[in-house]
Amino acid sequence: MKAVIHGVTVGYTDQGNGTPLVFIHAFPLSKTMWQPQVDALKDSYRVITIDLGGHGESDIVLWNDSLDGYAKNVIHLLDHLGIAQAIFVGLSMGGYTLFSIYRHYANRVKAMVLADTKAQADSEEGKAGRQSMAEMAFKDGASAIADMMLPKLLAPSTIEHHPEIVEQVRQMILHTSTAGIVVDLVAMAARPDSTDLLPTITCPTLVIVGEDDQATPVTESQYIAQRIPGSTLVTIPQAGHLSNVEQPAAFNKALNSFLKKCRL
Ligand code: MLT
Repeated sequence: MKAVIHGVTVGYTDQGNGTPLVFIHAFPLSKTMWQPQVDALKDSYRVITIDLGGHGESDIVLWNDSLDGYAKNVIHLLDHLGIAQAIFVGLSMGGYTLFSIYRHYANRVKAMVLADTKAQADSEEGKAGRQSMAEMAFKDGASAIADMMLPKLLAPSTIEHHPEIVEQVRQMILHTSTAGIVVDLVAMAARPDSTDLLPTITCPTLVIVGEDDQATPVTESQYIAQRIPGSTLVTIPQAGHLSNVEQPAAFNKALNSFLKKCRL
């Protein structure tokens, strides 16, 4: 599905009825990474996925280079769909976007799931790495980014035993525009530290992480879970950074029991 919102084409899916569940994807992927969760939940919830700008079916907005801008685009989609409050699920960059949503639109958040993400801002070394990656994307295109990112996104066991997942993730990256990749990198490098936000989060929160996540290791999720009052941490075995794609059954089980426990 597509909608033109504030003059920009936004790709999204909207299936099912009930409490809205909104899924926000990782860098440099698209809404299609959430297909296993859409399939599992659309009979019980209203499940929405969105392509952030420059990903999947969404237009790039070159000047939208902050995660607050990404957060605003998600809220604009909810306004367009007539949704006042939702449960949000964000993985990695989707989690960074969720921190911005909570910071600016906490009243829109009924509950949240922070998957394979981290609260701290980039270090100076991390920012320099973003710049080199942006230069690589500009010079060599998305396929060079795919070659670089795949071993960071997926656990070694997934790479060895699941070539179909490797190919699916590669295709998602290849379908992301170079401009979209560059804008993401600029936005992530500029994102604020969210550590101070964590103790202020009052909605039910689940933290999920793949046990072999190299990009945002288990310690990052422990850091988040220890600071958000009442939150729960679930570690997914045999999963890397894309825990929802690599181990969908375990991820969905954690999500379902959180939703049931909170009676959401
Ligand atoms: C992601 O998966 O969204 C990225 O690994 C986030 C990042 O590069 O910090």
